[in-house]
Amino acid sequence: MNPAMTPRDDDELIGSILAAAEQAAGSVKGRSLEEVLATPESRETLRRCATEMGAAALEVSEMMRNWATHIPWESLIALRPEGVEAAGDEAPVRALWSFLSEQLPHVRSSLEEMWQPAHLRRQVDPDEEYALDKNAYDFYRPVGRNLMQRTEEYQGWVEARRRTETWQYSRVLEAAPGSIAVISNDLGRRTKGINFNSQDYLSFNAHPAIREAAARALQDYGPHSAGSPMVLGNTKISDELERALGDLLQLEHLTLFSTGWAAGFGSIAGLVRQEDYIVIDRLAHSCLQQGARAATKNMIRYEHLNVEAVRQHLQEIRSRDARNGILVVTDGLFSVDADWPDLVTLQDICHQYDANLLVDVAHDLGAMGPGGTGVLGMQKLLGKVDLVMGAFSKSFASNGGFLASRSQAVKQYVKMFGGSHFFSNALSPVQSAVVLKAAQIIRSPEGDELRGRLFQAIHALRDELTRRGLTCMGSPSPIVPLLIGNEKLARISNRLLFDRGVLAFMVEFPVTPTGSSRFRLQVQANHKPEEAREAARIIDESIAESRAYLSSAFGSGV
Ligand SMILES: Cc1ncc(COP(=O)(O)O)c(C=O)c1O
Repeated sequence: MNPAMTPRDDDELIGSILAAAEQAAGSVKGRSLEEVLATPESRETLRRCATEMGAAALEVSEMMRNWATHIPWESLIALRPEGVEAAGDEAPVRALWSFLSEQLPHVRSSLEEMWQPAHLRRQVDPDEEYALDKNAYDFYRPVGRNLMQRTEEYQGWVEARRRTETWQYSRVLEAAPGSIAVISNDLGRRTKGINFNSQDYLSFNAHPAIREAAARALQDYGPHSAGSPMVLGNTKISDELERALGDLLQLEHLTLFSTGWAAGFGSIAGLVRQEDYIVIDRLAHSCLQQGARAATKNMIRYEHLNVEAVRQHLQEIRSRDARNGILVVTDGLFSVDADWPDLVTLQDICHQYDANLLVDVAHDLGAMGPGGTGVLGMQKLLGKVDLVMGAFSKSFASNGGFLASRSQAVKQYVKMFGGSHFFSNALSPVQSAVVLKAAQIIRSPEGDELRGRLFQAIHALRDELTRRGLTCMGSPSPIVPLLIGNEKLARISNRLLFDRGVLAFMVEFPVTPTGSSRFRLQVQANHKPEEAREAARIIDESIAESRAYLSSAFGSGV
């Protein structure tokens, strides 16, 4: 190699060996060695080809040589005129002649397997490398005293991810989403796909009775909620909604919040004071974690679902503090793990140590359990858990949330001291009407029928993914978490899925710990089992291709 030249990479060198061999083979085709030797131009062509093949073989990296030991590199190098013992004009031509007839067919096929032509060769895009290498966690502690300026580095990463279409956030709907949705990503690129990205387990967004209830409330009350529920935000509809939900949960005292997040945060912040304790599942939803952090420093995060760990923590706390309150906090159905705790034991333990239990049933109420009563109904705990909070956004087709208990005092207290109830405008009349109608359908035979269809699609999806060797986490529920682990693989797969028509939320830090990324597929009653199976096939193929892409583009085996 000329030292002034940039070294060629192995791919390029193999391409050049193949090209020279092709040219040599073409120029001798149908002719005898004597004829070739007798033609000066042919001799010259073969000499040139021999020189190029030998030089390229000599330049191939040690790494390639150690790996591809089946290629006769030394024979190729020996083709160079200086490598041919009886150097002279004819010698290289004769050497190449015998190489072409004896070794070329076998060497060519081995080289072709390894070679990617330049137009297929991937250039590693530095933006893509940066986008894939970093995690949101890397930007959580920015340096600098200017709070605004120090967000720039994170913005650079977001831009790299957006540009390489590995940014899964902030997608936009172009029409009402159903089991199929038309969306665009945040660069404005459109796609249409099987939609596991909506939170609408019972497909109420398209339900005529729900839409009609919304339209009637809009007509009767207008779009606006007149104020905080502590002022004039309530309506006849929201009063009726409180009663309907109280019936469903067998907990008569309901407090409504304008979002599920506000309900989780406000319930905890309303009840717990600095000297109290919170013992919380380490994977409980963000609204509960943040409410807990805002309420007290005495916060213990226990291993996911580990009820025995709760018992030990309560025992330890009570051995030194008999005066202050303890709130034990957990999700019902966990939103990215699709599992649930043994609530019977948890509630028993709480009573034993004079602690109170709060369960967030955002994902299970309405969509699972007898009569849509969720995990509480499945564990025969209706009316028996101290505090139950939830969100309407998954199975009730609206924003909004609630806290329910059997205590009138708790209701009044949280209304006054849970900031997100008092200091935020109430659910709008339209939202209340939608949730009320949804609650009525959930309790009706139609609700059972919808849950039946929902679970058929859930089983079809889980079964097909599992049959293909993929890992579904948790238990059958409207949330099907498909474990990926490595974020790079998840991000590239997500990019492919967008183009191939499967819409699912790719979950990574801060929703899950780093290294445990996954796709959260949220199933709807209107998904047909065949759609679910088709989606599983596309997902499987996209993951396999992404894995191959990563190992060829970045050499990373994932
Ligand atoms: C378990 C859980 N609780 C509460 C919430 C908050 O509900 P919303 O999004 O309706 O405010 C969510 C939704 O993200 C959730 O998954």
